[in-house]
Amino acid sequence: APAMNVRMWQHAATQSNLTALLEHGVRIIGPDEGDMACGEFGPGRLAEPDEIAGVITAYFGDSSPLAGRRALVTSGPTHEPIDPVRYIANHSSGRQGHAIAAALARQGAATTLVSGPTNLPDPAGVYVVHIKTAQQMLDACQAALPADVAVCAAAVTDWRVDTAAKEKVKKTKGKLPTLNMTENPDVLATLSAAGNKRPQLVVGFAAETENIVANAQAKRENKGCDWLLANDVSPESGTFGGADNTIHLVSADGVENWPRMSKEDVAEQLAERVAASLGTAA
Ligand code: CTP
Repeated sequence: APAMNVRMWQHAATQSNLTALLEHGVRIIGPDEGDMACGEFGPGRLAEPDEIAGVITAYFGDSSPLAGRRALVTSGPTHEPIDPVRYIANHSSGRQGHAIAAALARQGAATTLVSGPTNLPDPAGVYVVHIKTAQQMLDACQAALPADVAVCAAAVTDWRVDTAAKEKVKKTKGKLPTLNMTENPDVLATLSAAGNKRPQLVVGFAAETENIVANAQAKRENKGCDWLLANDVSPESGTFGGADNTIHLVSADGVENWPRMSKEDVAEQLAERVAASLGTAA
């Protein structure tokens, strides 16, 4: 839980030491973002005492079923640049993924959240890596391995412009710009196929509007994950972009239909299921 200037925190030397610590399984708290004593703004402030106390209590507490476990969560949209001022993205709020990271941390897991751009604060007790593009999300996830559980809740943008323009694309009379698109890497499928680095439990999400369970079962097999939380986003469900989710948990054992509940309750349920599935750390 460091207290330093934003440029000290973001310095390459600090960041490479941090990566090394994470690779050794060291638990990181903070830093918070805010005004610095030196008049600058950014990450580097010492985390709030409540947060530090919460993480330590969760880590050492008897009631921490995920103590000694490492969790990786993706959240939010990704932004794929067209030029220095334009990008392709989607409407993901990041709310479900952030809630899951917070819930796993409350259960005692050392949790890394790899997040695309959102308006949400970093969840308490979670180490957050902020990225913009799908490729950066994949790189950050691979750097965060090994993990016992990975939950991919991000709405990764499926395509990117294959070469983003270095300069702002100008309007030319009578001529429309052409965007050549490339498919982005699939973070969930890549983590599911990570060989001896594969997390023991890999969980994905699927937003579906019809044939929800059948589509989710097919998606689970295509992606190679263990659980897929299918999320009914049909207009009738009234959940898209809202505070609630209606989840169908698809696994090799079949389907479980959860009642409609808040995204925070979905996160709590899932964290408890993860803890039950992983059992006590060796
Ligand atoms: N996902 C991912 N990387 C991608 C695309 C998707 O990690 N490039 C993950 C999401 O985080 C989610 C799951 O895959 O956990 C399903 O995402 P979804 O968009 O529903 O699946 P797609 O593969 O894009 O399929 P569809 O054709 O239904 O959009």
